[in-house]
Amino acid sequence: MTRPMNVSITSMIRTAQAVTREGRGILAADESSPTMAKRLAAVRVDSTEETRRSYREILLSTPGLEEFVGGVILFDETIRQQTRDGKPFARLLSDRGIVPGIKVDLGIRPLAGSPDEVVTEGLDRLRERLVEYDAMGARFAKWRAVLRIGDGRPTTACIEANAHALARYAALCQEVGLTPIVEPEVLMDGAHDLDECARVTEAVLHCVYDQLARQHVILEATLLKPNIVLPGTTCRTPASDEEIADATLTTLRRTVPAAVPGILFLSGGQSDQEATARLDQINRRGHEPWELSYSFGRALQAPVLRAWAGDNSHRTAAQAALLHRARLNAAARAGAWLPEMED
Ligand code: 13P
Repeated sequence: MTRPMNVSITSMIRTAQAVTREGRGILAADESSPTMAKRLAAVRVDSTEETRRSYREILLSTPGLEEFVGGVILFDETIRQQTRDGKPFARLLSDRGIVPGIKVDLGIRPLAGSPDEVVTEGLDRLRERLVEYDAMGARFAKWRAVLRIGDGRPTTACIEANAHALARYAALCQEVGLTPIVEPEVLMDGAHDLDECARVTEAVLHCVYDQLARQHVILEATLLKPNIVLPGTTCRTPASDEEIADATLTTLRRTVPAAVPGILFLSGGQSDQEATARLDQINRRGHEPWELSYSFGRALQAPVLRAWAGDNSHRTAAQAALLHRARLNAAARAGAWLPEMED
């Protein structure tokens, strides 16, 4: 069932390099069906298997997407779906040089013994599911852990439980030959300030890299998908994009080993333009030793959903909106984005 380790390590490293190559990033299109229902409801579209399929076909068939996007994260339902013409979505992507990936966690559940905290589930039978996704064409995987700040949270118990699960997941991915994206998301909900987010993100990343080492994960064949370090959404002390970029880089430099090839930020509820402006500021400071890119869901898709709004005759406008945001994020990835490029 497992491949010879020397073969899969090389190919996993190549996958990590391919998704971040020459200014590219990741389109996260892996919303679970309940999350997708919320996104579609916001543009007054019923969530059915067919509306989800046809929206995702618009995203994935966008002409020119491969110029800016190196990988797409799919959801379980989506990787089993096809274009109207019968081409599996994973093949539609790989034929154009975009690497297909797959969300493999099964979502968050309350963490026993830690009120108001959550742990990500999905380790049971994960090995078998990864083998199946590999056969369907996925080349990388994603697992998201969720940490909340406030009232003594996150507890050490929550940080350790989530980091341990991330490490078990990453080790299983590497056994099968899929490059694991390790995603510990410290949420931006709350009244905490920038320093508190930096302190918590640092503690979380320390624990994650400790657990990855204990589970024998080969860091060269992984990617990190962290939150940008931000003040909470109800914090009274605002921070400039420059301060946010400094705090984010300081936190990453203290915690993420140089062996990790790439760091791809999630957008986490920032507006499209905020996420792009902050990615730009981060890259203006220089990215060594990692590639510093994006793996945005909402910050890439929000304008696409608005343009489409369930009407397939708006396909061209929706695809233009996606290409525009992808192009702007590619500029930000080079530290070359300017606000006037938004128009
Ligand atoms: P957002 O960019 O919308 O946070 O989504 C990225 C993602 O994949 C969350 O797991």
